[in-house]
Amino acid sequence: MNPRRLLSVLAGLVAATGLPYLVFAALSVVWDPEGSPADKRRDHRPTVSVVLPTYDEAEIVESKLQSICSWDYPMERVEVVVVDSSDDDTPEIVESFFTDRVTPSLTLIEEDERRGLAVALNEAYAAAENEVIVKTDCDSRVAADAVREAVANLADPAIGAVTGRNAEVLGGSAVERGYRDVQARIQTLESHLDSTFVFHGPFSAFERDAVVPVDDDSIADDTELALRIRRGGDRVVFDPAIRYMEAAHSEFRKRRRQKDRRAMGLVRLLWRQRDALFRPQYGLYGAVVLPFNFWATVVSPWLVAGGVAVATLAGLALAGPVGLAVPLAVYAFVLAGSRDALGDLQPVYSLFDTQVSLFRAALKLLAGEGDGTWEVDAELREAYD
Ligand code: GDD
Ligand code: MN
Repeated sequence: MNPRRLLSVLAGLVAATGLPYLVFAALSVVWDPEGSPADKRRDHRPTVSVVLPTYDEAEIVESKLQSICSWDYPMERVEVVVVDSSDDDTPEIVESFFTDRVTPSLTLIEEDERRGLAVALNEAYAAAENEVIVKTDCDSRVAADAVREAVANLADPAIGAVTGRNAEVLGGSAVERGYRDVQARIQTLESHLDSTFVFHGPFSAFERDAVVPVDDDSIADDTELALRIRRGGDRVVFDPAIRYMEAAHSEFRKRRRQKDRRAMGLVRLLWRQRDALFRPQYGLYGAVVLPFNFWATVVSPWLVAGGVAVATLAGLALAGPVGLAVPLAVYAFVLAGSRDALGDLQPVYSLFDTQVSLFRAALKLLAGEGDGTWEVDAELREAYD
């Protein structure tokens, strides 16, 4: 192929990758909604089941329980459901924490063997008895008023689920913060259009009656449950007034494994649920939100990979062997970026890095990986001691 032809293919790939973001950026210039779209009612005090899954969390589970008990919500209306698959003494620590404590009440589910987070959560959701289910991870901290904000959203009969915002990243970099802010804008827009796609593990709240089981091998359980609830008819929204903190590695290299896994979860979920795309019964969620996320998550990593391949071919066609400088430059960019050594270009790398994870995720899924269990990151837990 001649180089000009290759260059126009390359331009096409770049445009196709960026297009959905440009549409969103343009939309947010003319329309800039804020906060949750729900008709929030602040006097609503439903009973709440707080679901906490644990796998070998002996180091941090007690401080997590303490922080749950300090939430600004009437604790006599709260039940804590711990579903545990640990090999360490997490369940004993949980039980002794609740000895002599009148409220909140404890439901402890001890699994005889570890079958993955999704299986554990399905059990916990089935056992939860209260009107609202709040799911939270052990390695996160939730703002004291988060549950009040969440139930105010759920008081709106159109809303079946609500998630919150990562307000502070423990140990995270400034790049990460920039990225989270963009994500919060997109999720706010999606919610005002109809519903958002991604739900966050550190804090998600669901109307109990709307909850259905997720796939046993799910590695995007919160997002999958929200998607299923939306398919059931209720809106599922993002409210930036609900705040949580989560520990993260500041080094890209250390983040890779968790990022790849989360990417696998989202790619597989969108692929499995692709029949919801453009279905009129799902309103703007089916017409805009899901296609946008499908494009950005499933399609665009292949466009980026194709772009690198085409740029290499164009380089070879234009400059002979010197054209190999193109993939070498990309490789150097990734190496430097993953070591946080790009200075002002670091945010650009951060976007590219997400595409790298999504691409690796697609390859891992094609190779049959992703059974729903993983190694819990011990180093991240040090932030909570
Ligand atoms: N009962 C049980 N069984 N709990 C588990 C298991 C398991 O097999 N595996 C992990 N957990 C618990 C952990 O103890 C922790 O409280 C929570 O589930 C999240 O596990 P992390 O190891 O911290 O995973 P993460 O931070 O990458 O998880 C995030 O992504 C997942 C999807 O990939 C969270 O947002 C999860 O909620 C989400 O499901
Ligand atoms: Mn975690």
